Amino acid sequence: MVEMLCGVLLLVVLCGDLTAGQTCQANALRRDCGYFGIQEPECVQTKGCCWTPTEGQPWCYYKTSPLSVYHVDAVMPNKLGTKITLKVSGSTSSQFGDLISPLTMDITMESDERLHVKIHDSNKQRWEIPTDVSPIGSVPSSHPANPLYKITTAKKGEPFYFAVTRASDGEVLFNTSHSDQPLQFADQYLTLSTTLPGTESIYGLGEHKVALQLKRGQTFTLWNFDTATPPNLNLYGSHPFYMDLRQSGKAHGVYLRNSNGMDVVYGNNFLTYRVIGGVLDFYFFLGPTPEGVVQQYQEVIGRPHLPPYWALGFHQCRYGYPNVEALSDVVTKYAANKIPLDTMWTDIDYMDGYKDFTLDPNNYPLSKMTQFVEDLHNRSLQYVVIVDPGIKVDHGYKPYDDGISKGVFVKDKNGNVFTGKVWPGVTAFPDFFNPMAAVYWKDQISTFYSTLLKLDGLWIDMNEISNFCNGQCSGSSHPEELRRSVDDGLKFDPNNPPYNINNQGTSTKLNIKTLDMDALHHGGVMEYNSHNLFGLMESIATCSALESVREGKRCFVLSRSTFPGSGAHTGHWTGDNHASYDDLYYSIPEMLSFQMYGIPLVGSDICGFNGDTTEELCSRWMELGAFYPFSRNHNVKGAKPQEPYEWSSVAAISRKMLGLRYSILPYYYTLFYKASRPVTTIPSATVTRPLFFEFPTDNNTHSIDRQFMVGSGLLVSPVLEQGSTTVKAYFPAGKWYDVFTDQVATTSGGTTATLDTPIDHIQVHVRGGSIIPGKGTGLTTYDSRNTDSTLVVALDNNGKASGDLYIDDGETVSTSQWMFLTFNATSSGSSGQVISDIAGQAGDLLKIPPLGVVKVLGVGGSPSKASYNGAAISGFQFNTTNNVLLLTGINADLTSSFKITWE
Ligand SMILES: *[C@@H]1O[C@H](CO)[C@@H](O)[C@H](O)[C@H]1NC(C)=O
Ligand SMILES: *[C@@H]1O[C@H](CO)[C@@H](O)[C@H](O)[C@H]1NC(C)=O
Ligand SMILES: *[C@@H]1O[C@H](CO)[C@@H](O)[C@H](O)[C@H]1NC(C)=O
Ligand SMILES: *[C@@H]1O[C@H](CO)[C@@H](O)[C@H](O)[C@H]1NC(C)=O
Repeated sequence: MVEMLCGVLLLVVLCGDLTAGQTCQANALRRDCGYFGIQEPECVQTKGCCWTPTEGQPWCYYKTSPLSVYHVDAVMPNKLGTKITLKVSGSTSSQFGDLISPLTMDITMESDERLHVKIHDSNKQRWEIPTDVSPIGSVPSSHPANPLYKITTAKKGEPFYFAVTRASDGEVLFNTSHSDQPLQFADQYLTLSTTLPGTESIYGLGEHKVALQLKRGQTFTLWNFDTATPPNLNLYGSHPFYMDLRQSGKAHGVYLRNSNGMDVVYGNNFLTYRVIGGVLDFYFFLGPTPEGVVQQYQEVIGRPHLPPYWALGFHQCRYGYPNVEALSDVVTKYAANKIPLDTMWTDIDYMDGYKDFTLDPNNYPLSKMTQFVEDLHNRSLQYVVIVDPGIKVDHGYKPYDDGISKGVFVKDKNGNVFTGKVWPGVTAFPDFFNPMAAVYWKDQISTFYSTLLKLDGLWIDMNEISNFCNGQCSGSSHPEELRRSVDDGLKFDPNNPPYNINNQGTSTKLNIKTLDMDALHHGGVMEYNSHNLFGLMESIATCSALESVREGKRCFVLSRSTFPGSGAHTGHWTGDNHASYDDLYYSIPEMLSFQMYGIPLVGSDICGFNGDTTEELCSRWMELGAFYPFSRNHNVKGAKPQEPYEWSSVAAISRKMLGLRYSILPYYYTLFYKASRPVTTIPSATVTRPLFFEFPTDNNTHSIDRQFMVGSGLLVSPVLEQGSTTVKAYFPAGKWYDVFTDQVATTSGGTTATLDTPIDHIQVHVRGGSIIPGKGTGLTTYDSRNTDSTLVVALDNNGKASGDLYIDDGETVSTSQWMFLTFNATSSGSSGQVISDIAGQAGDLLKIPPLGVVKVLGVGGSPSKASYNGAAISGFQFNTTNNVLLLTGINADLTSSFKITWE
């Protein structure tokens, strides 16, 4: 372990002896002291630096200084916490730049569950994320009554550290007193470490394609980057948040509110942040349940957006549909094969020369596209297209001309429009820091909507920002000599920070496949600081434009790049995956991680994007994908077609699994509603969740990421290996019923079972104690919403169950007509009851179909009759072999409380 870490170039601070004065450390990370062509005498004699010719490294480099330590200079308690001043004792020079001194640490006890610790320059405002981009939650006016935490800090005159402990049991959650890795706060290098017990489980720090539970000995780099998702490397979004689950089953969360590039090193007994700008702005969430941690985090970054109901239906997309006829053909084949489909998508193929807000006049001509979209809408289907941020530099192309006249494009360091290269060729990029950019973006979307396509949502891709060039492509980019000659010590150089984060695992430059770091946004904001925010800012502008253009209908936006706060505006797909069993598996930890990041509407490209899928893989993927919150089949150009009707077997599987999905969408939609709600009497919730969210004290669940839960009531256990027809499924404590057969799988749980799972099947179990609201199925969400409601009541070992249901029109922003129902069942012997209660309601009574069917699992005795509000229910069936009671034709009005009894 130690050897491996010391082998990593950047971890010199961990391993080298830096306390023995300045020395030349050729094997440590070298900070360049020379310029292109410098010779040894000048380097050593004139500049006092070190000289070691080595391929691929600076030959002339600075000596490394000993680590200086901050001491506590003053401690000033205030209403909500404490302000502490820190000063460096001794030399401020350090390996990665002069240490800033004094620093201020503001400790704010924001609530019983939330502690805020911010370390910043006492004298100068540094870069911080604007709160209208990524919010910070509300701060109370009075000290919390019973904080779940204690914070300890060094006393005046002592070397600085702080530690956070859990008040209830004294467990240390975060302790920066790590003598080898003290706080270092230079302009472009901020580092802080916490010790860890070594038995914790850590989750988060995305976006990466990794197991749900993070492995020790890895560096998690956060720097938004467009790549076809290799494991471990930094991907499209950045989420500097982790959850730490202890063996006790108690969890807490840590959010570093910082948008700069960073490495987070997770070792055996420590976690180290290495950040290249901004401030150290930490939030601690005390849980103590995992679900509680997520909800407390979302109180800071913003609650998730409630998507329109149709967004939970099935989606079909492909890069490479050649023309509008091909789109129609897909829709026709879905209908002919009776496979549910709600939304048809088009990738960049529809554009004229890949220019945003245009239609290809030959293959996607306006007249045919208008007909096509109208036909979709007539069938209650939706249409979504892709839009990229890159606007083609092309005089006479209105989106470009408008952007120039409004001055809303990102600039280069000289104040000229920054130009990159993306699909349409040379492009400029809207700068969403400029308030006019939102207006500009809305104008483009509005014109597109009113003159070309009545689209229902937008898919925003390439927003890392992805660029085919490394930095500016046209004209002169920055020659190496230029960069070297301005490196006269440690002046702020965005293109050459003294510490290189592990971008793409190779410490490659920050401008690889994106903008130059000195590109300028409105207000002088440098790309260096704001790079990770672009996707979030584009999501905000796009959702708001859609809601205004589509007159109060909820936006549907799907973004590749995300940041804390994105969930309030957009969903996310996990990018360019492969048609492989590995990526089938990774889709589960990715989906579950995004639930923690507050972006519940997430899913991976079903059947795989890159590469040819197979009948077997696509079968398994349709089975699993039917349970993703966002469920879309998407394929790359040139690969084998993979719409589910391409194989009769996959078509049948899709009818079965999507049929089940559509019949439980009221359950999903209720979860989305609860996800979008602040914590009140109606409990907030994640949509899908790891098993440990529900069973945190069962440490068998802590590493499970090949199974997951939907809400608290459904357990999904897919086959993820080629050729396998069994699943090894873990059942946590409780009674579990098979949703397909209603059979009891286990009455006690805490067991692993090997379940026969032939190619046309996936294991889905309902947890005893749950009531799952549903509907009849349908080929669209519109049709299924018009069917009668259903309830599946899965009694636990005590004969009890509960559940809830949210109903609204499914599309209006801040709808004024809604209802939230709770259901409770109790039973004893052969008698029992389900009662409903209207727990929340607004506006007039909704016109909704009645409750038609109630199915009760695990009924005791042998009941012979049932009634609804005292009147007999004629559709009565009791199956004595599996103890299932089926009541049909109930016709219960959901808009008033009811009672259904059996005996
Ligand atoms: C933090 O760690 C230091 C060094 O190991 C230790 O002396 C101190 O007691 C710890 N503080 C807390 C609150 O655990
Ligand atoms: C859509 O429905 C309207 C109203 O029934 C009808 O007039 C129109 O022709 C339909 N459009 C298409 C493309 O079928
Ligand atoms: C669960 O925790 C106990 C101690 O509380 C430990 O002995 C056991 O090894 C842990 N099991 C797993 C799977 O981590
Ligand atoms: C139903 O059960 C839930 C949780 O089990 C409980 O909070 C609620 O008060 C119950 N409602 C009624 C009407 O009994």
